[in-house]
Parts: sequence; structure tokens; C-alpha cells
Amino acid sequence: MATPTIALARRHDAALLAAMSRRLVEAGLQPQWTESRIERARQHADHVVLTARLGGSLAGFAIMQYGDDAAHLNLLAVESIYQRQGIGRQLLHWLEETACTAGTFRIRLEVRANNTSGQAFYKALGYQQTDWVRGYYQDHEDALRLERDLALIRSAGPT
Ligand SMILES: CC(C)(COP(=O)(O)OP(=O)(O)OC[C@H]1O[C@@H](n2cnc3c(N)ncnc32)[C@H](O)[C@@H]1OP(=O)(O)O)[C@@H](O)C(=O)NCCC(=O)NCCS
Repeated sequence: MATPTIALARRHDAALLAAMSRRLVEAGLQPQWTESRIERARQHADHVVLTARLGGSLAGFAIMQYGDDAAHLNLLAVESIYQRQGIGRQLLHWLEETACTAGTFRIRLEVRANNTSGQAFYKALGYQQTDWVRGYYQDHEDALRLERDLALIRSAGPT
């Protein structure tokens, strides 16, 4: 397992994160997560833009929006050469812990219907499908909506 440095994105990270989103998450779609949108999210109090760095290289990142009732995971990606080393799990764990600290226990996200490895990742981490949304991605591709209720896990006690 890799031990990345997990920290809030820095100024000037946005261009690289937008490029990662285009390659790893939004391939084949009109990119929605532009550099300026990511930079706005970075500066916005209800968003967290989180990075995982290994030896100075940007290995992964995630963007979460925190609401009163639920937090929404907008993006999560790990560079191909760093995948299956626990980095995605550590990014998501950091965001889940932060949501719980803020009193938000429900995490929601959408994943592309054709992204079977992304779906396997979220399901391995306790996310369950709540919906299937036709044409969610630019009327072009369906999404699975997934959710995890962290309050249930907390009330069940330590695992
Ligand atoms: C999905 C993604 C974020 C996972 O990140 P990662 O760092 O590789 O995942 P982890 O190493 O933390 O995996 C945690 C667990 O998830 C499951 N998992 C992860 N990738 C998987 C895959 N390709 N196939 C099946 N299960 C997978 C496994 O159970 C894994 O545990 P294990 O390695 O001990 O078996 C990464 O593959 C990625 O960036 N993919 C492209 C972008 C994407 O699909 N993002 C998600 C939708 S926005």
C-alpha cells in the first residue's frame, strides 16, 4: 500500500486536476470540470479539493461538496500507474471523516454506467446503488447513483 501525502489542493493545481479529470473521469464527454471550475471549488467554503501526492507527483485527487443533509462526491481519480495501491481508499476515507466531523453522514455520488472498475471500487468501500439515472451525462450516458450512510456504520460501532 502506498502512503501518499493527502492535503488540500494548492494554488496552481487546478490545471493539472482538470487534465486528470478529462483523461480519467470525463473521457468521451464534453469536459465539465475545467480549470476555472476547479479553482472556484478550491476557493469555495462548501467544497474540498483534495490531493494525494507521492514523492512530489500528483497521484490522485478528489472533489467533495458538503451540504447540510448530504455530501456529494463530484470527482475522484487516481493516476493509472498508482491505482490499486490504496490511494483512492485513503482519499475517500479522509473526505468521509471530514463529513462526519461536520455532522454530515450521508455521502452521494454518480458513476458512469460503463465504469465497471469505478463501481467495483465504490461497492468495495460500502456504497450502495440507490438509482439509475438515464442520460445523466450530457444526455449521452447513464449513471448509477450510489450512497453510503456513515451514521449506520458509526452506530454499529467499531469494525
Ligand atoms: C476508481 C479509482 C478512483 C480507485 O482508486 P484506487 O486507488 O485504484 O483504489 P484502491 O487501491 O484504494 O482500491 C480500494 C478497493 O477498491 C476495489 N477496487 C479498486 N479498483 C478496482 C478495480 N479496477 N476492479 C475491481 N475492484 C477495484 C478493490 O476492492 C480495492 O481493494 P484491494 O486493492 O485491496 O482489492 C481509480 O481506479 C480511478 O481513478 N479510476 C479512473 C477514474 C474513476 O473511475 N473514478 C471514479 C468515478 S468518478
